[in-house]
Amino acid sequence: MKNYYVMTLFPELIENVTKESISGRAIKSGLMSVTAFNIRDYTKDAHNHVDDYPYGGGAGMLMQVQPVVDCYKHIVNKIGHRPARVLFMSPQGRTFDQKMAEELAQEEDILFLCGHYEGIDERALEILDVENVSIGDYVLTGGELPALSMIDSISRLVHGVLNKDESHEIESFSDGLLEYPQYTRPENFEEHYVPKILLSGDHKKVDEWRHQMSLERTRERRPDLYEKYVAEHPDEFAPKKPKRRRRKTNGTETQSTDSI
Ligand code: ADE
Repeated sequence: MKNYYVMTLFPELIENVTKESISGRAIKSGLMSVTAFNIRDYTKDAHNHVDDYPYGGGAGMLMQVQPVVDCYKHIVNKIGHRPARVLFMSPQGRTFDQKMAEELAQEEDILFLCGHYEGIDERALEILDVENVSIGDYVLTGGELPALSMIDSISRLVHGVLNKDESHEIESFSDGLLEYPQYTRPENFEEHYVPKILLSGDHKKVDEWRHQMSLERTRERRPDLYEKYVAEHPDEFAPKKPKRRRRKTNGTETQSTDSI
């Protein structure tokens, strides 16, 4: 059972997204849980405020330390221990990728802290001893969408979350290459045809074609991944030795063509 805990000012956003589709099905079948905690519920401010002006001046408001820390303490008390990973969604963090999704899929409980406004009082991040995680080099208005993206990609790696038809065995990145193009019926749509080889029934040839397509796509669309793949698969790209052909020169002698 995988448990996600999300500290946020917008718990409905988290609940409304995760209750749908594949994550919704996984929650219903008991494979995972997503619990959103509203940081505002923990404020001691008479007006329910959770933000204030930064010391030293400057633009924007900061989330205050008290409601964040009290919300975190409540979660730790409720589950009886500190979650295996405490992640703060921040453009300053380590960039989330498929490898990290695989790593996080092994953990039983993950806590996501979602910031808003201009940031969070640094003391809250120190007290929670967070790992900063970014989903890319761009700035969003809050950590909810990053947390949801991560929950989605981690969950699909959890055993049982995807069914056979949704299996993640063959997919972009699983072997360091992008996925090959795919087609379904009809064979001919307004003179746009399915590649003939896919209709041939020759599985070996289909596999070879798909691998070739993955290579071409990766080289064109993600040269960075392509270079990495080539470096990690030297045998596949080594120049092929010509086949040894033995040629008769006279009645008894033979000569190899290897050096030609
Ligand atoms: N919060 C704002 N921008 C973000 C990003 N790129 N990744 C993670 N959290 C964020």
